[in-house]
Amino acid sequence: MATAINNFNAHLLEAFPDPIILLNRDREVVFANQAALEVLEANYDGRDLALSFCVPEVLTAAEAVVNGEVIREVDISLSVPVPRNLKIRIVRFTDSTVAEDGAVALMVFQDISSETLAEQMRQDFVANVSHELRSPIASLIGIIETLQGPAKDDPEGRERFLSIMRDESQRMARMIDDLLSLSRVETSERLRPQEQVSVIDLLEMTRELLIGRAEERKMELVFDFAADIPTLAGDRDELMEVFQNLIDNAIKYGREASPVRVTAELVEHVPEIGGAGLAVAIENKGEGIAPDQLPRLTERFYRVDKGRSRKLGGTGLGLAIVKHIVSHHRGHLSIVSTVGKGATFTVYLPL
Ligand SMILES: Nc1ncnc2c1ncn2[C@@H]1O[C@H](COP(=O)(O)OP(=O)(O)OP(=O)(O)O)[C@@H](O)[C@H]1O
Ligand SMILES: [Mg+2]
Repeated sequence: MATAINNFNAHLLEAFPDPIILLNRDREVVFANQAALEVLEANYDGRDLALSFCVPEVLTAAEAVVNGEVIREVDISLSVPVPRNLKIRIVRFTDSTVAEDGAVALMVFQDISSETLAEQMRQDFVANVSHELRSPIASLIGIIETLQGPAKDDPEGRERFLSIMRDESQRMARMIDDLLSLSRVETSERLRPQEQVSVIDLLEMTRELLIGRAEERKMELVFDFAADIPTLAGDRDELMEVFQNLIDNAIKYGREASPVRVTAELVEHVPEIGGAGLAVAIENKGEGIAPDQLPRLTERFYRVDKGRSRKLGGTGLGLAIVKHIVSHHRGHLSIVSTVGKGATFTVYLPL
């Protein structure tokens, strides 16, 4: 390595976790810190940057700076060794005492992959929310126009339209509640719940709430709990939401007149987390879920059959909320399904 900089400066630059490269006026690499070795190809020392880092936009920007421009910034994506987005800032030295041996420009790489990803998710989220709210609003507007015009003097039609309006408005209200609870869970996700709760009591309460719905579909709710299940650290409201969502799904998507089984037992090892825990499994018979759909179920607004879920009043946020709550509890959610047979959703909570 050419002695482009004195020892002290070299130590300083080595200490940075981000790649840093110094260039001379011929665009040759005269210094690269340890982190930069990851982005440069071998034999970079004293040779043109183009030979070890061949990204045209970056080379053009470097060229401009070594020729006198004060600063240039370029955002690039690299696919190897791992896909990532980098912001590269190239700054010209104005003080010749900083560097010896002719270094004239400093290149700093900043990994902005997580920011880019977060921004992408935010944009998708806003697009989804607007899309999801637009369709019920469009149908409300359509109905109102019909009621003002063609259906003005049709009492029967009016009743029918009003009940559609009620359902659509309720669905929007539910979606807003779900979005709020999602954002509440997200903000609390860092702090582990402290309160001691009895999961068995919560499951019994959920049964009371949902037994009517199950009867409408001629389904029996079968509860089977191991003896001596202790209380655990959890958030009562959040866990209620988890069990309600999962049992509600089992009733909604299960086959009519088939049973929904809810079991609770202690396990020695929580999958992917380790340590002892409580496993609550909710099992229903029915069409089940195809393997390629499984990983997508917990995405916001994801529904296997949009039309059907919408008809049933679903927002597609239920499982996204469940997943966040379970991770807030440092637990694990497992989904197992056989197409044509049914599905089992298991919530593991650490003890
Ligand atoms: N037990 C199940 N069997 C088969 N498919 C299921 C089951 N549970 C969920 N799904 C599928 O996963 C999708 C997402 O479920 P989720 O609970 O997130 O949304 P939803 O039930 O449609 O709406 P919401 O829960 O907000 O009322 C559902 O639309 C359905 O396609
Ligand atoms: Mg649901």
